[in-house]
Amino acid sequence: MGQSVKLCGWVYKARSSGKVAFITLRDGRGLCQCVLEKGDATATFFDEAKKVAQETSIEITGVAHADERAVGGVELREITEFRVVGTSSDYPITPKPHGVEFLMKHRHLWFRSQRQHTILNIRATIVDAIRRFFNDHGFLLIDTPIFAPAIGEGASTLFEVDYFGEQVYLAQTGQLYVEAACMAHDKVYCFGPTFRAEKSKTRRHLTEFWMVEPEMAFCGLGDVLELAEDFVCAIAQRVLTDHRADLESLGRETASLEKIAKPFVRLTYAEVVDILHGPEAMALLENDLQTKSERVKEIDGKIKELEETKASAKKAWQQEKAAQELQAAHEEQAELNEQIANIPAHMKLAADFQWGTDLGGSDETIISRLHERPVFVTHYPSDVKAFYMRVDRSNRKLVENFDLLAPEGYGEIIGGSMREEDHDILLERIKAHNLPVENFEWYLDLRRYGSVPHGGFGLGVERTVAWICGLKHIRETAAYPRMLGTMYP
Ligand code: 4AD
Repeated sequence: MGQSVKLCGWVYKARSSGKVAFITLRDGRGLCQCVLEKGDATATFFDEAKKVAQETSIEITGVAHADERAVGGVELREITEFRVVGTSSDYPITPKPHGVEFLMKHRHLWFRSQRQHTILNIRATIVDAIRRFFNDHGFLLIDTPIFAPAIGEGASTLFEVDYFGEQVYLAQTGQLYVEAACMAHDKVYCFGPTFRAEKSKTRRHLTEFWMVEPEMAFCGLGDVLELAEDFVCAIAQRVLTDHRADLESLGRETASLEKIAKPFVRLTYAEVVDILHGPEAMALLENDLQTKSERVKEIDGKIKELEETKASAKKAWQQEKAAQELQAAHEEQAELNEQIANIPAHMKLAADFQWGTDLGGSDETIISRLHERPVFVTHYPSDVKAFYMRVDRSNRKLVENFDLLAPEGYGEIIGGSMREEDHDILLERIKAHNLPVENFEWYLDLRRYGSVPHGGFGLGVERTVAWICGLKHIRETAAYPRMLGTMYP
């Protein structure tokens, strides 16, 4: 403070009166308001500075003054130097409202906006928290391949690649490879991009996402659950410590993240089936129907008011503000109407849920919303789960697996299991899934040479970011999200 500093950045906002120009500068880390007053010192550049457009890149030198009212708490005044580095005109993302499709097409520019910038910052912290957790807990990083000769999860979500005339796949998981590495190093993890040919357009599915997958030898299902619990608490704590103000700027209610503590809820699949059929689940959905319908009516009134304000507004900024609020109201209403339309179907899905099928997105949402803490759902029917999961010796219809459901309806963020360590049972499961045994000979080797009980899990980074940041859609959690119909830029 009180010293001359040079800032390099982009014009986030600019306005001027005849004698004063205000430029809000964005330097990649934060915002700073620069105030240029027409005078001798600014004679050579004042007129140019007055006209700079949004996203022009500039270098500017002046004296830093602490100012509580200024964005970022500092204002640059007494400007002595100003230089345009790169011009910009008609920047497409203006303060006016834009639809999501437009913004997604301009993703390469969109993430200059404050909200997107904050989300990607939090993502980077989550990625750092992930690496730190495993490095600090004695896990060795093993980088697994992206070209994979065989199925890792399920045949329906494979991307095929022509590998010099041979058909291979983009990795759905690094798990099988870290299983082998865990027999060499004990505790290991892989962390990288994984690919699923998900044909559904949902809020939770990407075709390319990052997954961290720890694997441990000589452990039981309880140990894997405890690891997942400690891990998720560490991530939530780290983001609360480093990004409280950022979370608030995103409108994320932090109280629910404070509640992320051990022990998490533990339910078996069978218990979940009973809950879905029970009165609590139905009451939750009935209550949703009522509160959402009331909110839609409330928004109707607000829309009428905003339309009147917009029509009678005298100043352009007043019209713009009303237009923005109108768009937000229409979006909220459209979303609520869609949710209301889905509720009867979700009620039916829950009431008719059959033992032996996999939990759907709406079922997970019900279970997670009935609890404040994350919920482990364990022991699914083996028929709906991957071939590698360990058969429960006390009930052979089940596997020793789990999904972790994040609270507030965010649904599954982790899938994990014990792995079948018995050679003959595993071979049987590979055959039952109609998988080509020859592709899995190396994997069966792990059961031929010193097999041990082992297990692990996979946490999806983007779903975790969506939950922690309180985002409605997964598309904002990646710099360049890949989804059905989204490939540009
Ligand atoms: O439950 P999944 O399919 O588990 C596995 O891939 C195991 N091999 C992991 C292991 O045991 N090592 O996926 C794990 C997690 C999910 O809980 C979810 O967070 C994320 O990966 N995930 C997706 N995220 C975004 N888009 C998709 N299409 C996803 N599919 C899975």
